[in-house]
Amino acid sequence: MKEYSRRDFIKTAGIAAGGLVMASNILPAQSKKAGDKLNVALVGIGAEGEVLLNSLLKLPNLNFVAVCDIWPIRRAYAFRRIFKELKQKAQQYEDYKELIAKHAKELDAVVIATPDFWHAPMTVDFLNAGVNVYCEKMMSDTIEGAKSMVRAMRKSGKLLQIGHQRKSNPRYIYARDVLLRKNKICGDIMACNGQWNRAVSKDITWAKKQEIPADTLKKYGYNDMNQFRNWRWHKGLGGGAISDLGAHQIDIFGWMLGARPSRVMASGSRDYYRKEDGSPAHDWDDNVMCIFEFDKTFQGRKAQVFYQVLTTTSSGGGYFESFMGDNGTLKMSENPSITQLFRETNAPDWEPLIKAGVIGSGSAPAASSTAVVDTRETKALVAYAFPSDIPGFDDKKPIHMYHLENFFGAVRGENKLSCDAEHAFEAEAAVFKARSAIEKGPLEFEESDFVVD
Ligand SMILES: NC(=O)c1ccc[n+]([C@@H]2O[C@H](COP(=O)([O-])OP(=O)(O)OC[C@H]3O[C@@H](n4cnc5c(N)ncnc54)[C@H](O)[C@@H]3O)[C@@H](O)[C@H]2O)c1
Repeated sequence: MKEYSRRDFIKTAGIAAGGLVMASNILPAQSKKAGDKLNVALVGIGAEGEVLLNSLLKLPNLNFVAVCDIWPIRRAYAFRRIFKELKQKAQQYEDYKELIAKHAKELDAVVIATPDFWHAPMTVDFLNAGVNVYCEKMMSDTIEGAKSMVRAMRKSGKLLQIGHQRKSNPRYIYARDVLLRKNKICGDIMACNGQWNRAVSKDITWAKKQEIPADTLKKYGYNDMNQFRNWRWHKGLGGGAISDLGAHQIDIFGWMLGARPSRVMASGSRDYYRKEDGSPAHDWDDNVMCIFEFDKTFQGRKAQVFYQVLTTTSSGGGYFESFMGDNGTLKMSENPSITQLFRETNAPDWEPLIKAGVIGSGSAPAASSTAVVDTRETKALVAYAFPSDIPGFDDKKPIHMYHLENFFGAVRGENKLSCDAEHAFEAEAAVFKARSAIEKGPLEFEESDFVVD
């Protein structure tokens, strides 16, 4: 990459974290320095806990003191992996409170990946015990829970990173700081469109021999094994798709636009997953569509943001966040193969940006259509790529690793967090508001609206 883009990126990347909250727990004095071994614990080793463990095992200088999961097979799994790959013998716990009682004094950090309703009590207890916390999103299934986490972070002076991992991803930081801001590649961003399209999936099952006894399930807040495995669809445990998937992307809109939304309207539908089809009724909507209005973006403009999350079809095209301006569109995704840039025909020439290495070259669509189109509409679009050498980006690295590195860097006092709880709360407040907008409901149509007397 040529000089001006790379230099600009490195200069801005250091201040890329954060949205609007001005003061937060940035670089508190930490006792550990670069190269020191950090004592860590992992709580919740399900699907995401395993993804995090895959990255944690590759990070240098971590000493796994303990692992905790109420499901014996999962804590045993983590123990085995840690022993096999690092020859470390982590203590195993069912109850995180016991883990705190035995190890809080020696722990530098804990990584929490339990179901959402456990995040607030666990995070608050670890922070109060003096342990830095990396906790998965959503911060909590309730707004009060999320607030309690922010308060505990402030009071304890410890670090609380929330798992919105895009905020540490060099591709996202590059998109925000170099493409949208420095080079204004899309011009004035007036609209955004985010989507997460997931295929139908049946409720998660389990092997009979791995069932957790009913009294243990009850002790930890689950009615039965189905609820334990499918917690994200149940009120009181998780928040459904709009919080589970939407939180990631709604967070990115505020971060990219450098603003908080002013209004939201939303609609949800719950009609697909039915008991008679073998899925116990879900408490949360299958599909949600919403519009956020931003009154003043970083460009001093209004912007409308449409967001949809679907769990009944994936063929709409995976997951992405598009930023649409008068000069072009950036279609951004955690998946590099979905990420693309499109130039408006009346936009300034992008050749200088290609020559400078700010963007990659364009590729024309495979076949040109012979159909006659309205001349005011865009013809087949050339898709431009990201440059192949974004500083800090390594396509072999798992996407969560950057965020964990950022967290442990902060624990060692080397950098600030890229998504501390104050900033995460801003994004999650927007999710909670969208959910209440669904409940308040849209305007009803009357039969008479369509009839001329
Ligand atoms: N950042 C991301 O991209 C991402 C992706 C997926 C999930 N997540 C988040 O990670 C968290 C976990 O999601 P998941 O998909 O792994 O769920 P999961 O059901 O697969 O795993 C949850 C694990 O927590 C354990 N657990 C439940 N209650 C516990 C308790 N009280 N104490 C200790 N262990 C307990 C379960 O036994 C299970 O092993 C959720 O908050 C989810 O939103 C984040």
